[in-house]
Amino acid sequence: MKILVTGGCGFIGSNFIHYWLSLHPDDTIVNLDKLTYAANPQSLKDLENNFHYQFIQGDICDENLVDKILSDKIELIVHFAAESHVDRSIDDPLLFVKTNVLGTYTLLNCAKKHGNIRFHHVSTDEVFGSIPFNSSAQFSEQTPYDPSSPYSASKAASDHFVRSFHKTFALPITITNCSNNYGPFMNPEKMIPRMITNIIDNIKIPVYGRGENFRDWLYVTDHCSAIEAVITRGKIGDTYCIGGLKETSTNIDLVKKVLNLMGGDESMIEFVADRPAHDNYAVSWEKIHRELGWQPEETLDSGLIKMIDWYRENESWWREAKTEAEAFYQKLNDYKNLNK
Ligand SMILES: NC(=O)c1ccc[n+]([C@@H]2O[C@H](COP(=O)([O-])OP(=O)(O)OC[C@H]3O[C@@H](n4cnc5c(N)ncnc54)[C@H](O)[C@@H]3O)[C@@H](O)[C@H]2O)c1
Repeated sequence: MKILVTGGCGFIGSNFIHYWLSLHPDDTIVNLDKLTYAANPQSLKDLENNFHYQFIQGDICDENLVDKILSDKIELIVHFAAESHVDRSIDDPLLFVKTNVLGTYTLLNCAKKHGNIRFHHVSTDEVFGSIPFNSSAQFSEQTPYDPSSPYSASKAASDHFVRSFHKTFALPITITNCSNNYGPFMNPEKMIPRMITNIIDNIKIPVYGRGENFRDWLYVTDHCSAIEAVITRGKIGDTYCIGGLKETSTNIDLVKKVLNLMGGDESMIEFVADRPAHDNYAVSWEKIHRELGWQPEETLDSGLIKMIDWYRENESWWREAKTEAEAFYQKLNDYKNLNK
């Protein structure tokens, strides 16, 4: 089978390409990626000479390019490409509308033109909004959409377009809405790798508010196996929620856990002004477990240990991206201070 993966040079896309080719070595993957700041082509360097892997630099909004790629026997699209950072969506919402909404629409439209190519859309639990503090509720496939940030609003819009192409044009789609991922090849602008690399550099770890917000953490290869389950055995037209844990973790407990695993102490924690509309997340993965037999393999501890080891061993992969990420956060702080 020949597969188009979009956004394959990003965090989850690169893990997915490794995962898929290791289990399906006879398939061919074409990776279409614009190479934004979030991409790191080094993540796929080991595949450079693999006959079953091809990289194309380009934009998912470029209809002519997408058309041309699909005309070369693509049977499945796995769509990861997105602007994915909530803080950046507060800084520049329009970019999120372009890539996440217009880009997804462009792919759908081209998939339809080329004989209704099978389309898997990778989305987020953030489309469901926030779970109240002191609640044991979980997001599920029945939860109404209620996005809080420009990022989650743009992903919600893209989910609606994907479903509409199934209902209106019979495009064979599936959607997964998953919780926060963590693992290797993750840009150090995101919370866990920022924490790990700060501890390596012996600098303070900023924690939004008092760290009381909670998340449901999903190890990235567990996410890849869930996507594989949905692609191979999922029901066309259906949505599956994916989560990682049986219990959520507050941000402050997570920081303390990482500090403990890395031999740091709590004096490294620095509480900073909270992000606007800061959500809480927890996901029920009961449907995908019941219907497709999927469940996560990693616990938060086992996943964090693997991730910490990877960041310790791969400084050359993250060092440049960390410099860029810290410059971005500095700009965001300067802006906040100006508007106080
Ligand atoms: N990271 C998470 O915790 C998480 C959780 C739930 C859902 N998701 C979803 O999973 C997908 C992948 O997330 P990620 O964390 O790997 O993202 P990422 O930011 O690490 O990578 C995104 C990739 O998409 C590429 N890209 C961006 N705009 C593009 C465009 N216009 N055309 C082509 N390529 C473009 C970037 O260059 C980058 O390689 C996203 O759709 C995201 O919404 C992520």
